[in-house]
Amino acid sequence: NQYTEEINVFPGGDAAAVEAFRIKYLGTRGLIKDLFDEFKSATPEEKRSLGKVLNEFKKLAEEKYQAVKERSETGGPAQTDLPDLTLPGESLVEGARHPLQLVRKEIVEIFKKLGFTVAEGPEIEDDWHNFTALNFPLEHPARDMQDTFFIRKGGNDIALRTHTSSVQVRMMESGKPPFRAIMPGRVYRNEAISARAHCFFHQVEGLYVDENVSFADLKQTLYYFVQELYGEGTKVRFRPSYFPFTEPSAEMDVSCSICKGAGCQMCKYSGWVEILGCGMVDPNVLENCGIDSNVYTGFAFGMGIERITNLKYEIRDLRLFSENDVRFLKQFGTEI
Ligand code: PHE
Repeated sequence: NQYTEEINVFPGGDAAAVEAFRIKYLGTRGLIKDLFDEFKSATPEEKRSLGKVLNEFKKLAEEKYQAVKERSETGGPAQTDLPDLTLPGESLVEGARHPLQLVRKEIVEIFKKLGFTVAEGPEIEDDWHNFTALNFPLEHPARDMQDTFFIRKGGNDIALRTHTSSVQVRMMESGKPPFRAIMPGRVYRNEAISARAHCFFHQVEGLYVDENVSFADLKQTLYYFVQELYGEGTKVRFRPSYFPFTEPSAEMDVSCSICKGAGCQMCKYSGWVEILGCGMVDPNVLENCGIDSNVYTGFAFGMGIERITNLKYEIRDLRLFSENDVRFLKQFGTEI
């Protein structure tokens, strides 16, 4: 043990050092000789286990001696604790982009072509930016639409943002129109984790505010986006909906990119999949952010990256995105 370690780290050296090693361990009055002498007086039981250990130790010393002797004769370098730099290296396993990052990047690229910039904001938000400025009246049941994780309840609640619309508010408050930006980011909702829901997910929201922005602009922008993302010929349809911060509001469906409308599990045999919410920015929201709603109009939209990724890659379980299972992750290529 102590000596085994000593032998292992012995770096070798010139002939004198090697000879000293031999005398210490293998000489006629060396350590091993002493140990074997002691061994003779052990009980038969002890001998059985000790014998093996002693023989191994002896073998180790002899082998080491042979090795350092050869090296000292051929003038090779003494062995040190340094790694042998002439050995071939261990190959590194190359990582890959996470599928959500791949899709986020794709979405961002499409909107960049239309002149949208990228804006980000904090994940821990106050009530004003996540709700009140966005026209969620206090105590209004619409606040329950988004199961919120509160960090501090009180006069000005602090919570994990439930959508990146909060970034829209921050942007409008701190600048002057026109605004044309998208807001990618992680959002949180207090939902039981299952294949179809998670307590966090990722969104890309968008905002366009200028003079004379109309619902037709909204439709054309989103139509272009879908053609770029899912391929030309993808159909879209708008259904009326409700969001406190947009009026009128709509949800947009796309024709199922997996079954091409023939009906599959992804679109629940309807041929359509909902991918985003959108609408004309409610004048109250513009006013809350200090923008004159008599001069400016705007549209906004918001989509979940997970849902779009599911549809692109036929992924049926949201939990896969956050489990870090390499077997799942390595299927998405090695683009960095
Ligand atoms: N903020 C909405 C959500 O998280 C999405 C949305 C954004 C809807 C903008 C309309 C306009 O559900």
